[in-house]
Amino acid sequence: MSLTVTPLTAAVGAEVANVDLGSLSADAFAQIERAWNRHSVLLFRGQTLSDDGLLAFSRRFGELDPPPNQERGRQSPPGYPDIYVVSNVLNDKGEPIGALGAGEAVWHTDMSYLDVPPDASMLYALEIPPAGGNTYFCGMQAVWKALPADLKAKVASRRIKHDGTFNSGGYVRQGVTPTDDPHRAPGAWHPAVCVHPVSGEPALYLGRRRNAYVEGLTPAQSDALLDELWRFVDAPEFAYAHRWRVGDLVVWDNRSTMHRRDPFDNAARRVMHRTQIKGKRQPRSYVAAA
Ligand code: SIN
Repeated sequence: MSLTVTPLTAAVGAEVANVDLGSLSADAFAQIERAWNRHSVLLFRGQTLSDDGLLAFSRRFGELDPPPNQERGRQSPPGYPDIYVVSNVLNDKGEPIGALGAGEAVWHTDMSYLDVPPDASMLYALEIPPAGGNTYFCGMQAVWKALPADLKAKVASRRIKHDGTFNSGGYVRQGVTPTDDPHRAPGAWHPAVCVHPVSGEPALYLGRRRNAYVEGLTPAQSDALLDELWRFVDAPEFAYAHRWRVGDLVVWDNRSTMHRRDPFDNAARRVMHRTQIKGKRQPRSYVAAA
């Protein structure tokens, strides 16, 4: 049977079926890459991948990016420094084997506090709790399209500071001095509206809400504008809600999506292995045709 691509929502995401990510032809990968550029998030169910298999599939998208510095630094399975473990499970010393615990992870774009954030990230589900821990993906191209013209005009030529102090679980990154002051916080400036390097589509590029700051505005004006924009991110019509099953792999375009995760019962186990694909260039500002 040949590979199929079925949209998951009108705004973002598609499921790719009839494919084994462990043995992909060049032609199948070309179809996957086209679907990814079009739908921003791709779901593959029922995969059986070793860590080597996950790395091999990840490398089809480009060079790997090292994992983010999280609350306990960079946590990887032994011998696999390019894999990042997201988990609430404790090892035999009672220490977490991964990042983010069992709490909510708020909306964010991965590592947008860097000048060149990863182009893509993927999560592979190894252990899943019976309830909770769903992950939501917001299509930021659809959000941009839906914004009223006056709101677009307010933000179009601005830059936003993306904070690097706190991770999406609300933890301070290892070695960082915590601050809620966006001027002093570590991070990067990016255009508020970025162009997709392949499709040319514009996307609102917010990163994360905490410590975000819109250049050139007073803190109060910046917060008011960001609050207006973030109301759109929370609207369900722009999101795909993913209920995980063991063996699911989800890859997302980090330039055109944000994601968040529901909390789950910390007595249950959740183990995900994640990779990131290095960004090929800095996010660039979208210039609308006159
Ligand atoms: C992440 O932000 O990469 C983790 C999302 C999740 O645990 O579902």
